[in-house]
Amino acid sequence: MQEPNHTARILGIESSCDETAAAIVANGQTILSNVVASQIEIHRKYGGVVPELASREHLRRIVPVVREAATQANMNLRDVDAIAVTRGPGLVGSLIVGVTYGKALAMSLNKPLIPVNHLEGHVHAVLLEAHLANRAPEFPAVCLIVSGGHTILYRVIHTGAAERGNGSIVRGDGDPLHYGRIGGTRDDAAGEAYDKVAKMLALGYPGGPIVDQLAPFGDSNAVRFAPTKIRGNAYDFSFSGIKTAVFYLLRKHPELQPEIDTRIAALARGERSVEAIRPLCSKFTLDLVASFQRSVVEDLVRRTMGAAEEFKARAILVSGGVAANRALRVAFDDAGAQAKRSIYFPSRALSTDNAAMIAAAAYPKFRNGEAADVTLNAEANLPLA
Ligand code: KG4
Ligand code: ZN
Repeated sequence: MQEPNHTARILGIESSCDETAAAIVANGQTILSNVVASQIEIHRKYGGVVPELASREHLRRIVPVVREAATQANMNLRDVDAIAVTRGPGLVGSLIVGVTYGKALAMSLNKPLIPVNHLEGHVHAVLLEAHLANRAPEFPAVCLIVSGGHTILYRVIHTGAAERGNGSIVRGDGDPLHYGRIGGTRDDAAGEAYDKVAKMLALGYPGGPIVDQLAPFGDSNAVRFAPTKIRGNAYDFSFSGIKTAVFYLLRKHPELQPEIDTRIAALARGERSVEAIRPLCSKFTLDLVASFQRSVVEDLVRRTMGAAEEFKARAILVSGGVAANRALRVAFDDAGAQAKRSIYFPSRALSTDNAAMIAAAAYPKFRNGEAADVTLNAEANLPLA
């Protein structure tokens, strides 16, 4: 348990996918350092994350990244109060590197080790900054986590908080949150669809940022994708259909191959900026990109807003790599204004994987005295709820 007035400085370690990250966060709110070593350059030539290469790279980077987090925070690792580590979900080989290193560090420094669910980290990425801006969301909330590995909707409730007169509750510092799964993707994650469509069109890797930048140059009404029909749960997602639709559309248009080849050549020369790629895209390609993005964004917003309505959410939190998408942010802001519901996004830096969110998520657990022992294991499929 934390003593009153003591500032708890927690070192977070994140290695669930392709970023090796470490950060130190004070009281779950103030980021003292936030270091992310991205592996994008390593996986780029494969157009996706290669698990074996990811774990090898985590092994190479984890020690310097943690040291850098201490240096940037102007701290000695001996002075942190706890070590938080992502336990799952994620790539098992990658997770093992973080968990093993976190355990060793906690043991050698004699500090509590706090396991964190990566998805709970994404929720805290939003709360961390909302708190800094003095704009803490009210609960219950609905949270959409949308990234390369996940597209999942949770109901977030909160206990132990002060009630407001109007029946809503506000998060107190370090209070624990509770999660209920509302729905999730049945096949591909939204970010995966971005990456695969970008790969088919030779737009570069990762696909999300370049599609985001190219989409405003196309007509988003040009290509009509059939709406995704999902039986059963209205809050489930499916993105493999639109990916396959793009695949068949490209098969029907072999005349696009020469422009695809020029982009392959440009990417091979390291020309990846939107300024370099856009002139190599026909109107048809730009329209396709814009229409794809519109369809994905509309689907994400519609189902999330529907869930918010059904569960009477006071706030809607959107987090994960795809939450960096500009069109998604605009669409959510518009839908939120219309439905009179507050929308919360992390900054773009905290949207993608980082360790500040892991350290922040660990803070309520630290206050509750939760800690793991040396038997802690990585869990590739660890559910949040
Ligand atoms: O959260 P993240 O860093 O890692 C995972 O946990 O997956 O998310 C990476 C994913 C990739 O699929 C990437 O294409 C997507 O997020 N992404 C974006 C944008 N920036 C990153 N998708 C759409 N628009 C963006 N601006
Ligand atoms: Zn993530």
